[in-house]
Formats: sequence, C-alpha cells, structure tokens
Amino acid sequence: MGGYGDIQMIDENGIRMDGRKAGDLRPIEIETGVIPVADGSARVIWGNNHAVAAIYGPMEAHPRKIQRQDRAVLDVRYNMAPFSTSDRIRPGFNRRSREISKVTAEALESVVLVEMYPRSKIRVEIEILAAEAGTRCVGITAASVALAHAGIPMTDMVVSVASGKINDVVVCDLNKEEDNYGEADLPMGILPNSGELVFLQMDGDLSQDEFQKAWDYNMDAAQGIHEIMVDALKGGES
Ligand code: CDP
Repeated sequence: MGGYGDIQMIDENGIRMDGRKAGDLRPIEIETGVIPVADGSARVIWGNNHAVAAIYGPMEAHPRKIQRQDRAVLDVRYNMAPFSTSDRIRPGFNRRSREISKVTAEALESVVLVEMYPRSKIRVEIEILAAEAGTRCVGITAASVALAHAGIPMTDMVVSVASGKINDVVVCDLNKEEDNYGEADLPMGILPNSGELVFLQMDGDLSQDEFQKAWDYNMDAAQGIHEIMVDALKGGES
C-alpha cells in the first residue's frame, strides 16, 4: 500500500483494470458442505480468491489451559497455501497469518453465542487456496457461512469486504494490483442485519470524506454479499 500514483489503475471513464466501475464487487460464489467430514464448511470464490473454511466442534477445549469456564473459545487458523500466490508461501504460521487469525477470531466471537458452550472450543480452519487481495475478508466471510452451516448459534453472520483508494479515487473491493499499488485499504467486518461493525483495519491514508465513501461502499456491499451467503445456506451454490 505504497501509493504508486504513476500506475494508472482507473481510466478517465472510471473503469478499473478488471473492467469494474468504482462501486462494483468482484463476482462471488459460495457453496456449503464442501468438506463432508467437517461439522460445517463453505467454499468462497471471490474474484480470483479461493477460500475454504471448515468447522469442527464444539468440543472439549484441550489443552485445559485454553479452557474458559464461562464460554467456548474459537480456535481460528487462517493459512495461505504455498501455491496460493506466484511467490511460494513458506508453509506454517507466520506473523501475518497469526494476526489475521486473531482479528478473525475476535470478529467471529462477537456473533457466536460462545456462552452456550462453557469449557469448549470451536475449531475454525480457513485455507486460502488462491489469493488475489482481500483474503482476510474472504476468510471471515467463508468462516461465517461455515459456522452457520455447522449449526452454531449466532446473532448474525459477519460479512467482510475491503474498499480503498487508487489514483485518488475511492473504489470498492480492491483487487491485487489495487491493493499493491493503491493508496489506502479499509477492510471491515459488518453485521448486515444491524449495520454494526465488528472488525476494521486501515492501511494508508484517507481523508474524512474518502473514509466515509469507503465505509459506505463496504456497508452497501455487505448487504449484497449477505444475500449470496444466505442463498448458499438455503441449498446449493449461489
Ligand atoms: O489478503 P489481504 O488483502 O487480506 O492481506 P494483505 O496482507 O494486504 O495481502 C494482500 C495480497 O497480497 C494477498 O491477498 C495476496 O494476493 C498477496 N500476498 C502475497 O502474494 N504474498 C504474501 N506473503 C502475502 C500476501
């Protein structure tokens, strides 16, 4: 997110390099039940991002030191497959995947009724098979659908999407070039029924007006993405 002003990513007609207008999302497809041995699962194909989330549990929390007497803990593991980008990703946890796992767990803990399962753990596995920017958003969205598919009680599903700024224009749902060479990135986690925010990160600089525009894009996009999530849960691919 360096802000490479000389790289033209949106033309004079407001068309982006992948043909989208400023407020357009990349195409999204969601399917549930893709990991039959899991208690719940979902695959999200979002532009060129491919993510799978699998849920196991609730189960007794082990080791006991992670147990909470009054609630379940969400054991979230976000991982990028070594082949998910053109530069091979070194297998195993790194600082970035730990950070994304932590923010994902915090976002999901605000909707899962964790107090229903004291001393338990719910394993949330997120695997990014192909990455094209916004993978933390895709992972959170996939995990929300997978938790619902597993029948875990929740107050709402978290919908996550990142808008940002390229060539001084605020745009919705950054792709890889826009994320790499744009000026700002604003991933958010939104509860579509209430419009509440459960996760927000910001990279780069946005003026107050630009921030508001990116916020509005994310809020609007969340409604459309939520419909796709619900359709996927009602049966089959959306
Ligand atoms: O994926 P997300 O936008 O949530 O996180 P990021 O750290 O801003 O990464 C942006 C994009 O850079 C990823 O989606 C990948 O396409 C790419 N990336 C990569 O190629 N190699 C990495 N080690 C990390 C990210």
